[in-house]
Amino acid sequence: MKLAILSRNGKLYSTRRLVEAARAAGHTVRVLDPLRCYMRIGDDGFAMRYKGRAIDGYGAVIPRIGASITRYGCAVLRQFELMGSHTPNPAAAIARARDKLACHQLLAAQGIGLPATVFGDNPDDTSDLLALLGPPPHVVKLNEGTQGAGVMLTEKLSASRGVVEALRGLYANFLVQEFVAEAEGADLRCFVVGDRVVAAMRRQAAAGDFRSNLHRGGTATAVEARADEQAVAVRAAQAVGLGVAGVDLIRSRRGPLLLEVNASPGLEGIEEATGIDIARNIVEHVVNGAESCGSPGAPAASRRRRRRPPLTGI
Ligand SMILES: Nc1ncnc2c1ncn2[C@@H]1O[C@H](COP(=O)(O)OP(=O)(O)O)[C@@H](O)[C@H]1O
Ligand SMILES: [Mg+2]
Repeated sequence: MKLAILSRNGKLYSTRRLVEAARAAGHTVRVLDPLRCYMRIGDDGFAMRYKGRAIDGYGAVIPRIGASITRYGCAVLRQFELMGSHTPNPAAAIARARDKLACHQLLAAQGIGLPATVFGDNPDDTSDLLALLGPPPHVVKLNEGTQGAGVMLTEKLSASRGVVEALRGLYANFLVQEFVAEAEGADLRCFVVGDRVVAAMRRQAAAGDFRSNLHRGGTATAVEARADEQAVAVRAAQAVGLGVAGVDLIRSRRGPLLLEVNASPGLEGIEEATGIDIARNIVEHVVNGAESCGSPGAPAASRRRRRRPPLTGI
């Protein structure tokens, strides 16, 4: 099958591993920089091009779209979907995953446990909003932050109020959560592919920090997630609509609580910690999905009347 990996940089560990796994399984694979994909859309059909050549015939697309290019990257991915390519993570699901508040609303409605969370707009409501949450410490998060940047711990009510006021002043979207102290700076990353957790790691924050992100100096250890944790991780990924997801859970006294569903989880830390070939799992899942949904490999819509014939296809 002809596969595309949408990634800004073919040298990144995750992208390289996916290319290797696809080639090892006998597939043709190209890394396409989403910012170099451009398109013509009309009621007479679609055409997408890459560096002057037509993009055509991809049976499946594996998106690795960074948070800084979510909007354009999702537009490109959506176009692949409209042209008949299968993807484990559709554009709509990636956009949903990038909005922490939207995810929490959706997952709480499904009965998935999460730290109590509040959000509000008007400064006049801040006191009541924080009272609704309960006493500090609180965790204030930028709604679209990643890799632990934009996640702050406020130990006093005056600090929570101050941070909330500062973020409002910057027109930033944020949410405020109860601080799950008993986690002691650890969380559980469950790597979901399809309907199972293929690997899990416990991440421990560096001394003096409460954020366990590897980008913040956290350390990873392979663990077997418990059955209830695996079930929550798979349900959360499915509720958001992702076939490949990094689901972060925090272990609390009242069971696993969901922190985040990551639509473009890194492979490096978790493959190193667990020794599991996650890239192979992803490629197999994607190819099976494309085959079972009858992805033509040759985009149907673009085969309709096209005004300008493509030059050489890629
Ligand atoms: N409510 C919370 N209680 C305790 N620790 C938290 C809480 N929320 C986040 N953390 C810690 O901060 C880290 C980053 O938070 P997260 O919501 O996943 O943001 P990001 O998208 O930046 O990774 C988590 O992995 C966890 O270690
Ligand atoms: Mg996270």
